[in-house]
Amino acid sequence: MRNSKNNFVSAVYLSKMEKPMTFLLLISAILACTESAKILVVSPGSSKSHGILGDGYVRLLLNAGHEVTYITPFAYKKHSANLRIVDTSSNFEKSPAIVMDIKGIMDRKSDESEDTIGLSLMMLDIVKKTIIHENVQKLLNDPKEQFDVVIVEWMFGDIGAGFASVFECPLIWSATLDPHWNILKLMDEPSNPAYSVDIMSSYSAPLTFSQRVNELWNQLKVQFLRYVWLDGFEENMYTSLFTPILEKRGRKLTSFYEARYNASLLLSNAYVTTSGGASLPQSHKFVGGYHIDDTVEPLSENLKKIMDNAKDGVIYFSMGTILRSKDLPKEVKISLLKMFGSLKQTVLWKFEEVLPNLPKNVHILQWAPQQAILAHPNLAVFITHGGLLSTTESIHYGVPIIAIPVFGDQFLNVERSVNKGFALKVDLAYTMADELKKKIVEITSNKRYKEKAKELSFIYHDRPVKPGQELVHWVNHVINTRGAPHLRSPALDLPFYKRKFLDLAALLAVLLLTIYIMLKQALAYICSQVCSTKQKTGSKKKKNN
Ligand SMILES: *[C@@H]1O[C@H](CO)[C@@H](O)[C@H](O)[C@H]1NC(C)=O
Repeated sequence: MRNSKNNFVSAVYLSKMEKPMTFLLLISAILACTESAKILVVSPGSSKSHGILGDGYVRLLLNAGHEVTYITPFAYKKHSANLRIVDTSSNFEKSPAIVMDIKGIMDRKSDESEDTIGLSLMMLDIVKKTIIHENVQKLLNDPKEQFDVVIVEWMFGDIGAGFASVFECPLIWSATLDPHWNILKLMDEPSNPAYSVDIMSSYSAPLTFSQRVNELWNQLKVQFLRYVWLDGFEENMYTSLFTPILEKRGRKLTSFYEARYNASLLLSNAYVTTSGGASLPQSHKFVGGYHIDDTVEPLSENLKKIMDNAKDGVIYFSMGTILRSKDLPKEVKISLLKMFGSLKQTVLWKFEEVLPNLPKNVHILQWAPQQAILAHPNLAVFITHGGLLSTTESIHYGVPIIAIPVFGDQFLNVERSVNKGFALKVDLAYTMADELKKKIVEITSNKRYKEKAKELSFIYHDRPVKPGQELVHWVNHVINTRGAPHLRSPALDLPFYKRKFLDLAALLAVLLLTIYIMLKQALAYICSQVCSTKQKTGSKKKKNN
């Protein structure tokens, strides 16, 4: 454990000390700050893009001199004395989660949108499998293991907070997605559905009346289902997974409620270039783009020659790592190949198998050095599924995109990219080749898409420090300030009824009711008085007559 208190003390007294003393203290403060901390990075995600994001944390934290323990189902490329891998790959040997069946998705007639609860259950299962994996159990059950901070990927469920409960240290959530209400409620309050949509939505602000109502309904529905069922389900999971571990350490498990709302920070793999400018809590930080290394691995000689010589520009087509082009239906592959062959541009197609009868301008890449390709000045357009990593990389390098969204947050990313003006959308369909060609012609002949991509790229790069530096800074900040409690939103410490002034509403309701009853009684009394005098005078009159 590092002694961070000393950092503060030395910093505070620095100004009051004499010069030589100051110098010595300054040196010791610097040494204390660069002292390595023990960090646990938990990356349960079984798809390669989750691996890329987890690897990014590890690379940056190792470079910053920290000792990193990394729970991951993937092999990490670089070895380092300061890195320990806790390998969970055996969880996923036969898992279909690593690769999605693109043909299956195309054949699914109905456009059933993925619901958040279903997704939560799927993800919770992956996190649970990670926790009960023997290698992870070994780590959790060893009372000698200690960490200064744990960084856990948030996967539509909060049981990962248990890692911080075990090691009694600050928790940082890492989010692979744009900040959305489902995760922001852990740091502050759910965001306002009038302008902040669900991550599975495909609306982008400004919303129409029915879209707004739809977003509100969706948020209320998921909140309600969580309240009546899913929260309890997760709590049971959390308790049964972590209680035995804590018992071995001779401690009682923190309640699920306390653990899940106790994260020091939320680091989002996003930036205003994708998310927009909605308000966010102080404990949320954008670090989108941190996975992109400063030094791009150079293109192979062959690929470099192809791209250098492409005088009409290059089209790069990749559906990412979860969806593989080779799983496209045969007729779609053939029609795409024919369409690409009819273009004047050079086409690079990331494709996992050998294709016969390739047109001259089409090149197949079994593996594509994506960033080096995006960085090449001859690249004209990137055809992508619109995942957040690919979208971020396109903005990083200022490349316009044509997006074919397939699942998850891709629809939302693409909707936003189209609205921002640097992207065109094509629907995934058997007949998409024609549509794709039209969009390729449009995006390569109209300069405004490229200009918009460059403009967004400027906004993206125009930050005080690079996202990787920012990430390391905030992780260090949490370690040095023992959980950064000063960033915590006060909203978390108020129950729902106080935050929404329901107590005031109740008070007003009682008051109004009281006033109403009193008025009614008063009126009745007055009325009865008036009526009885009227009656009396009436009867008197009658008598007089
Ligand atoms: C909450 O987090 C703080 C700061 O990381 C930590 O000191 C505290 O022990 C945590 N509380 C619980 C109940 O886990």
